[in-house]
Amino acid sequence: MALKNPNALVVASEVYLSGIGSLLNNIARNSLKNIKIFNQDVRELLFKLPSKIFDEIYIICPDPWPKARHHKRRLIKEDFLKILVKVLKRDGTVYISTDWENYAESIEEELEKIKDKFSYMKISNEGMPVTRFQERAINEGRLIHTFLLKLLEK
Ligand SMILES: C[S@@+](CC[C@H](N)C(=O)[O-])C[C@H]1O[C@@H](n2cnc3c(N)ncnc32)[C@H](O)[C@@H]1O
Repeated sequence: MALKNPNALVVASEVYLSGIGSLLNNIARNSLKNIKIFNQDVRELLFKLPSKIFDEIYIICPDPWPKARHHKRRLIKEDFLKILVKVLKRDGTVYISTDWENYAESIEEELEKIKDKFSYMKISNEGMPVTRFQERAINEGRLIHTFLLKLLEK
């Protein structure tokens, strides 16, 4: 994304050291100057940031927490979506994808709770940036469920 959009600043958030290491390698290999990395819980960053600063937010395959007793740990919840409302610019968009059908259903339930803030639709993942994790899911025959959210006027 940073390579294709040299005039955009990409803020990347991940806590997994090996993932960050691989990103650092790619940054060095491509001499990229337009990426900032946040290596802690993304919610900490979003809480602290001023409002209306992102044009687009991509949440690619958040951990699905498949066991029912762990569903409460899932990132995509109404409260988290409300933080996104704060940091998005007017007409801002959010892409959320998951390879886990049960998570896709739960994402839709959470989106229904906040439809006064976002309109949303399910879209094809074609043309979206594909991560290695997604590539593996596709190769293993799993479907990628992708949602496109649009911030309603604020
Ligand atoms: C299933 S992996 C997908 C990784 C990557 N997005 C991809 O598609 O290749 C989910 C990742 O989310 C990261 N993660 C989970 N909770 C997070 C949080 N609160 N803030 C930042 N990263 C988080 C985990 O470290 C994990 O690497």
